[in-house]
Amino acid sequence: MKVLGIETSCDETGVAVYQEGTGIVWEALYSQIALHREYGGVVPELASRDHVRRLAPMVERALAEAGAPDAVAWTAGPGLIGALLVGASLGTAFAAARALPALAVNHLEGHLLAPLMGEDAPEFPFVVLLVSGGHTLLVEARALGAYRLLGTTLDDAAGEAFDKTASLLGLPYPGGPELARLAATGRAGGFDLPRPLLNRPGCDFSFSGLKTAVLYAARKQDGGDDGWRADLARDFEEAVVEVLCEKSRRALEATGHGELVVAGGVAANARLREGLGRMAERQGVRVIFPAPGLCTDNGAMIAHAGWRRLAAGERPQPAKVRARWPLDELQSPGK
Ligand code: KG4
Ligand code: ZN
Repeated sequence: MKVLGIETSCDETGVAVYQEGTGIVWEALYSQIALHREYGGVVPELASRDHVRRLAPMVERALAEAGAPDAVAWTAGPGLIGALLVGASLGTAFAAARALPALAVNHLEGHLLAPLMGEDAPEFPFVVLLVSGGHTLLVEARALGAYRLLGTTLDDAAGEAFDKTASLLGLPYPGGPELARLAATGRAGGFDLPRPLLNRPGCDFSFSGLKTAVLYAARKQDGGDDGWRADLARDFEEAVVEVLCEKSRRALEATGHGELVVAGGVAANARLREGLGRMAERQGVRVIFPAPGLCTDNGAMIAHAGWRRLAAGERPQPAKVRARWPLDELQSPGK
């Protein structure tokens, strides 16, 4: 079975073909970063319009280069409604025209299952730390479609905290990778930043206070030597990483599972990878990071998740997009 995957939930147009037994046989990604940069964040209407421009030619190329698919999987949420509608319309219309099954995929499930495409894939049950621009979740993945929420953010997502803090430090959008680059040149320990919710039990997160602490620390600096920016970026990164590592440790301890999968855009962060690697070693568990290209939004994770569900007997549902679609509302195929 060959599945065409379509991702348009935010500011990336992703198209890919996933083939059973082989893996990803074709993929293309168009990022709208340049389009949104001058506004300092994603402008939903511009995002939708750009998906309209990019998506059909990408699907045409996929067909020409990877051949006709047997099914179509498209992202139905969570995400920006207008952007989701572009992928939903094209995906369902294409499938209808060719009498193929069309499957609505949850974007978060796409992220969460992405590591299963890799070489040292985890096996259910495992714990997932999903850290992206829109989400910060600790999830117990028991089986395909059976997810239990262990913790989430009470305010900003981890990626959002990176982006907002980067913007405070005068870095361009999206700030996560920029801030990480700046932090690599800074010294740690100069600023006393909070570790939100670390002293409270449980696996929930909060990042907005940290961002405010960075704002106040930045205000106290007076021009002159600019080195403090890198130092502050470094301390911010340390604080986020420490919190993410400790909450992941608790999630592993609470469930007793031996594998931690890290997904979402922030999983590309080198210091987070280091920190989680150290924590996993101490705990005697395995931590699995998908290849960076599979961590951020892409079409392959949608094609792959769609294939898993179809292969497990899931029947296509009527097309519907959802701005909010929590993971724990999902069900296992056939249930
Ligand atoms: O998963 P993703 O591509 O999109 C969402 O579904 O949100 O994640 C994007 C987020 C952005 O907030 C971006 O700043 C962050 O991931 N990010 C990083 C790094 N690379 C991407 N944050 C910290 N360090 C990085 N190296
Ligand atoms: Zn995402």
